[in-house]
Order: sequence, then C-alpha cells, then structure tokens
Amino acid sequence: MAEAGSRPRVFVSRIIPDEGLDLIRASCEMDLWDGELPPPRDELLRRVAGVDGALTLLTDKVDDAFLDAAGPQLRVVSNYAVGFDNIDVAACARRGVPVGNTPGVLTDTTADLAWTLLMAAARRVPEGDRYVRDGRWKTWGPLLLLGPDVHGATIGIVGFGRIGQAVARRAAGFGMRILYHDVNELPSDVTEPLGAVFTPLDDLLAQSDFVSLHVNLTPETRHLIDARTLALMRPTAVLVNTSRGPVVDQAALADALEQDGIFAAALDVTDPEPIPMDDRLVGRDDCLIVPHIASASRATRGKMAQMAAANLIAGVTGQPLPTEVPPPA
Ligand code: DGY
Repeated sequence: MAEAGSRPRVFVSRIIPDEGLDLIRASCEMDLWDGELPPPRDELLRRVAGVDGALTLLTDKVDDAFLDAAGPQLRVVSNYAVGFDNIDVAACARRGVPVGNTPGVLTDTTADLAWTLLMAAARRVPEGDRYVRDGRWKTWGPLLLLGPDVHGATIGIVGFGRIGQAVARRAAGFGMRILYHDVNELPSDVTEPLGAVFTPLDDLLAQSDFVSLHVNLTPETRHLIDARTLALMRPTAVLVNTSRGPVVDQAALADALEQDGIFAAALDVTDPEPIPMDDRLVGRDDCLIVPHIASASRATRGKMAQMAAANLIAGVTGQPLPTEVPPPA
C-alpha cells in the first residue's frame, strides 16, 4: 500500500485518451506503457510488481499469475472496456481486489457499429468500393452487387442487454420484425416498446434475415455459433458479431460461407485478434472484418478513459468503485 502522504503507484498498460490520463496523473504516480502493442507478458508482470492499482486493457490477461506478480498491496484492477473476459474476476475477489469496467458509455457507439456492419454486409458496401477502386465499374448493372433489403426484414438479437436493446431501437426505425434471445425473458416494459419478441435460440436463427450477437463471452457462449447453429440459419441470412470473437466458431463460419449456408458475415471481433492473414475468412467478399472498433468514437473512448480512471483512483484510495464488476456469488 502507498505510504501515508505518498501518492498511490499505478500501472497503466497503454496510452488511453487524456480525459483519463490527466485524472490519473493528477493523483497517482503513474507508470505508463506507451507502446503501440500491449506489454509482453513478462514485461506486464514485471511492471505491476508492487503497484497499488492497475489499469488494464482487454489485451492483458489478469489471472493468478498477474495477481501474484502484483503482490498483496494491489487494491484495484480497472479494465478499460465493458467486457472483462480477460480478467479472472473470481481470482481477484478471493484476494479482495475489486474489478472495474466501463458499462453504459459505449452502448450506442457499439450499436452504431453493429448497424454499420449489418448495412454494409447486406448492401455489399466494401465489395462495391473494391469494385470501383479496381477499375471494374463499366456501367449501371441491373444485377450488379444485389443484396437483401434491411428495412422490413427480421432481425434476431442474441443477448438482449444494453447493446442488444440499442440495436433493437435502430431496427425498429427500419420497420423490422425483432426477435431476441437471452438467458431469461426480459420484462415487458423493456420489450414491448421495441416490439421485441422472446424466441428460443434455434427458432430465432431459423427465422432471422439478420442475426446480431451481443452476449458476454462465457464458457456457455463460447462457440454458441457453430456448425449446428449455422446450419439452422437461412442461406440468405447475414451474421453480425460485435461481441467477442470466440462466440463464433470461425472454421464453421468459413465452411458455412464456402457452402453458401449463409449470405454473409460481418465481424468486429475475431478469434484470435488480430485474425491471422491465412485464415479462410480473410479476403472473402462475403465476410467483412474490421479490427475491434465498435466503441471507437472519439467521444466514447474519452468517456471510457474517464470512467476507467475514476475506478482506478477510487480503488487506490479505498473508495467503492463507481462501476464495479459484481464478484461471482
Ligand atoms: C469492450 O469495451 O468490451 C469493447 O470490446 C471494447 O470497447
């Protein structure tokens, strides 16, 4: 623990927007990893030794080895993300180390990107752009780059938390029929204004023209979309993933696209990240991939930085974290 009168020592594992760094600098002794790539594991473990708090990213694994390396004085792990599948929250709880995350501020920005991917994959925007740049555009073509309509179609939203509901609000604006699946049916005051209908997963996959994934990554959701569930989808369907890469079995997805089992996929997240350039999905016209940028608006990344800094500072000063990940029961 920081000695009385001295400033808490913290490690920050990447440059985040100044909205957060300025707050941390003002009240802590900050060791900042300023590389473009994450700190290598041995460097991470070396740098957290003896700190009072650590601000981590989804690229840093926080497990027993990390906590051992940090030492018993560690008072908080603040993740610069809403997702926390990189953190062994149970291991932190066993040592009394609270974990912070950044929920809420990135909901609409992430839903905007999910919607961008859905529209772009349906209407073949990246393919059209490549077509023009490659000098292949010779005339207006009645059959050129046809895709499905988005308006009036059926969307299946898997995981109906904050972001899933924000996607549903966008879908309502496009006059879509909205199906959702979650572990539990949600109260009618949430679902009725959206016209969202609870649907068992297999039925949702069979009925949807668009499937958008918004679940946390857990042992239960790993490969939720696999060969079996892909086979339930329509050959005209579009799959959008802005959750976590391992929710989709990528080999099964490549098979499904190769065999025209579904029309297209659009991925913000892959397994692993970055996706290897020799992965069968890379370079396919029917698979749009962007580099995990769903929350990447300037304003949102700034708010995430503020929130992560607030959690870090609260933790090192012994205050309750403003947004703490609930420890497992
Ligand atoms: C998160 O916050 O979990 C996103 O994946 C990155 O913003």
